[in-house]
Amino acid sequence: MPSAFTPRRMLLAGRDAADLAADLADALPELDTRTVKHGPLSPEDAAWADGYTGFTVPPNLADSSIRWVHLPMAGVDRVVEELAGQDVVLTRTVGSMPHAIGTYVLAHLLAEAWHLREYAALQSRAEWQPLPSARVAARSVVVLGTGHIGAGVARVLRGAGYRAVGVNTHGGEAGDFDDVVALADAGPHLTACDALVNALPLTAATRGLVDAELLDRLDGAVVVNVGRGATTDPDDLRAALDSGRVRHAVLDVFETEPLPATDWRWTHPAVTVTPHVSGPTEREDVVAAIVEAYEAFTSGRRPPLAVTVDRGY
Ligand code: GLV
Repeated sequence: MPSAFTPRRMLLAGRDAADLAADLADALPELDTRTVKHGPLSPEDAAWADGYTGFTVPPNLADSSIRWVHLPMAGVDRVVEELAGQDVVLTRTVGSMPHAIGTYVLAHLLAEAWHLREYAALQSRAEWQPLPSARVAARSVVVLGTGHIGAGVARVLRGAGYRAVGVNTHGGEAGDFDDVVALADAGPHLTACDALVNALPLTAATRGLVDAELLDRLDGAVVVNVGRGATTDPDDLRAALDSGRVRHAVLDVFETEPLPATDWRWTHPAVTVTPHVSGPTEREDVVAAIVEAYEAFTSGRRPPLAVTVDRGY
């Protein structure tokens, strides 16, 4: 990281850029900003700026004076390849996203536990038929990924009475989880769990990680994907749904977005599709993350939300 880097001039790209500029003028008057469109920078902007924020990276970033890129989102998979090998610090936005994603997961798990789909069907036929009541406290959830998002999911679910086991590459301290185990030791937890929540970033190591071998460990669990679509093999998921290894899949992210209209997941009776909505970017979170990174830079620290580009998260 540049040791004494004080950002002074930041380019703000995208739809929300004018509002972001106004908020930053209040929150961080020392930082000068300009709004630009996504895409190549003009030579003048490229020479003027030392910081940049937007959902994509300008193709001519390497020919600019930019040394800090801030993403207004949590997942960095779309940009890390372009930033590899460049002398640029990448920071990201987390803010309220883990809690929002936790409530999305909780909503779907409770809907399942309380049979909301079944009751809607029964009501449409004026049928009075009580189903077994939800016993959330007896249920355990395995969360793949123990970063900010996975931990936020665990906090929300545990608040509702679920037991949450985190899975990562190395195991470790429980923190926000009841237990954290390494992927290699996750087998018994996968078999015992009521739900598997995928909160993985997309990296070379996680691409296709949720495959037949992992899904075969499940015994009728609900699968929820709020990480990245390409971490799951869609054919293997379909086979696990058809064999009952997976009872229902709640999918918010897909390897291709928007999900093509002909895709089997739109119509499979045991799949719920939502259009990548579980972790909205809130502008106040973006402003707070930029201010936090700025303060870290100016005091010679690495920003807490800086990404290790080579690792991919
Ligand atoms: C959304 O998917 C994000 O990464 O913030």
